[in-house]
Amino acid sequence: MNRSMIHNALLIAAVGVAGMIGSALCSSDVRAADASKSVDVAQGKPTGPAQSRSYHFIRAVAVDPRTPGVIFVATDNQGLLRSLDGGATWNLANAGLKNYLVYDVKISSATPNRLYAATWGGGVYQSDDSGVSWREINDGLGNTAAGALALRFDAPTRREILDVETSIGVYEGRGEPPVWRPISEGLRGWNGPQFQSLILFETAAPALYLGTERGLYTRALKTDGKARGWKEVAALKGKRVSALAGDAANGALYAGTVADGGLFISRDGGATWNAATGGLEKLWLRAIALHPVRRGLLYVATGAGVWKSDDGGETWTVLTDGLTDPDVRALAIDPAAPDRLYAGTHGALFRSDDGGAIWTKLEGLPFDPVEKQSTAIDAQTIPPAIPPTGPLSGPQPGPSTRPTPPAAFAKCNQCHGWTDPALNQKPTYWRTASNRRNWRATVTRMSEGTTISPEEQAQITAFLDRYTTPEPSHPQAAPKSSLPPKR
Ligand code: HEC
Repeated sequence: MNRSMIHNALLIAAVGVAGMIGSALCSSDVRAADASKSVDVAQGKPTGPAQSRSYHFIRAVAVDPRTPGVIFVATDNQGLLRSLDGGATWNLANAGLKNYLVYDVKISSATPNRLYAATWGGGVYQSDDSGVSWREINDGLGNTAAGALALRFDAPTRREILDVETSIGVYEGRGEPPVWRPISEGLRGWNGPQFQSLILFETAAPALYLGTERGLYTRALKTDGKARGWKEVAALKGKRVSALAGDAANGALYAGTVADGGLFISRDGGATWNAATGGLEKLWLRAIALHPVRRGLLYVATGAGVWKSDDGGETWTVLTDGLTDPDVRALAIDPAAPDRLYAGTHGALFRSDDGGAIWTKLEGLPFDPVEKQSTAIDAQTIPPAIPPTGPLSGPQPGPSTRPTPPAAFAKCNQCHGWTDPALNQKPTYWRTASNRRNWRATVTRMSEGTTISPEEQAQITAFLDRYTTPEPSHPQAAPKSSLPPKR
């Protein structure tokens, strides 16, 4: 194996890891990511253990507050799953999705049947029929590696504002479809690769909180809805903040970390912070769920089960009865029946009907082998991204009116099969989101550490700018690309 082959293998692994956000920090996860993303380019299909094993981290669970029993699950490799009967039966809910690495799903509280989903590489999607169908809302979004979503209601316009955290900063989307603008001022000192969590802390002085690989940031929102820049929370400087929750009623804020001291609690709206004790200190936290009515009752998802406190985090009980996989990645409370909880792990979903005392694994989640996923997504008639350029035995794109990519574009495949039509048919690889944007910043950022010359960069940028030429029927503000380049 020559040096460049080794390089390629490592780079493919690196993107798999990057795509796993928090989980990338665990060495067994790194292997899982690596295996699930290795691809035999000649065959155009994934190779290795990914075919037989499942790598379906459950990333997020959302329970509909309006319609009892309606649950959505965001997964790493399967896209979205939906149950209409409290988890007894499940279906894939991916119609319209072009990317199955779904990291977050949020239910609108302003509009019935409306949902948003964040995908890593495919940007943001919206559904107005409770997950039956999805459409991209990426036009103007300058970065499509999206992780967490936060929704807030803007009283003056009586509209919901959607905030999305991406791999290079946060965007705010207002209007229908959302007009995106970057809100990353103050994150300039940041040089970590990933953000992980984003919440709205809706007190009298509402603020956004953003958890990153290197600390916690907060951004005050003026009452007129106009936001100021981000400020780092000094007490959590440098910590990997993977989970956030806030209780506006008593000013309590909770920040969970990964390998950085467990859970941190503020009881004064973020002014001062203390580490929770009682055994959480060494654990990796993935999610925090607050009881909607009982103040001080909260649950945290850790690598060692679900932990519960009913005194605001002073004392803790471990809940693992029936939880056959203790590595819990996602957690949700049914807002309409708050003794009911859902816990998502590496390929399984559990339900408790008694506040977490006993858990039951839900069967029938339609986790398909990778090949089947590919068939499912092929059936969605995704327009071919790029005409085939090599011998590919995977599904061939049909006749294409797309421009031919410059040869150097193939170099982008060192890390992700983004420019390869066969790989681009696979749910877990990047796809071109039709998001009118200025590609220069992305291409420059992506070219770092490769042999892509400035001339080749210019060709790739020109190609991508043509490729995503906006549809005239889609009115949109001018794309902004003022984000700082990755260091
Ligand atoms: C050195 C490895 C590497 C190479 C080479 C690479 N990428 Fe990426 N790419 C990544 C990683 C890691 C991410 C996710 C984190 C991020 O956004 O920085 C990503 C994310 C992306 C995204 C989603 C984020 C966005 O801005 O919408 C796009 C699009 C993208 N890459 C395009 C490209 C293009 C075009 C090229 C070739 C010029 C390329 N990449 C080359 C590693 C790479």
